[in-house]
Amino acid sequence: MQRTIVRVVCAVGRSGQLGLDGRLPWEGNRGREFVDDVARFFEITRGHVLMAGPRTIASVPDFARLDRELFVLRSSMEPEEILRRFPGRVVFIGGGPPVWTAYARFVSHWDITRLPYDGPADRWFDPNWLVRG
Ligand SMILES: NC(=O)c1ccc[n+]([C@@H]2O[C@H](COP(=O)([O-])OP(=O)(O)OC[C@H]3O[C@@H](n4cnc5c(N)ncnc54)[C@H](OP(=O)(O)O)[C@@H]3O)[C@@H](O)[C@H]2O)c1
Repeated sequence: MQRTIVRVVCAVGRSGQLGLDGRLPWEGNRGREFVDDVARFFEITRGHVLMAGPRTIASVPDFARLDRELFVLRSSMEPEEILRRFPGRVVFIGGGPPVWTAYARFVSHWDITRLPYDGPADRWFDPNWLVRG
């Protein structure tokens, strides 16, 4: 059986900020690099499977729900079993942090954009994900 290709595309602030109040910490910032980063995320994941926790999936805008396959991950699910359901497909693990902790060992490619954001956050990137497994 063909294997599943597991990837991540994410963006962090200068100190590893990932999220704030259920949104991106820099949401609403119309600066070029912030707008381009969101566009790039949807460009790269187009046509593929995007799986993430319920809060992250809920934040996917309507325009992006048609041209990618969204899959809500729950803590009761077994990662190997879920990934086996998508042989030969590219699967993007979209977070949040507990999801990356559980799926990091399967990830073959991390695509991380570091944005010029220095403000607060309540979700943080954990560099241990990169060396897990
Ligand atoms: N900067 C970025 O690139 C980026 C990317 C993604 C998200 N974010 C930000 O992160 C925040 C959302 O993340 P979040 O963690 O709060 O919520 P989330 O996306 O809902 O992810 C966490 C939830 O995933 C579920 N889950 C699925 N598999 C799991 C497993 N094996 N172990 C543990 N939990 C598992 C759990 O829900 P149940 O217990 O209900 O099953 C858990 O509460 C938002 O602020 C969002 O903007 C940022």
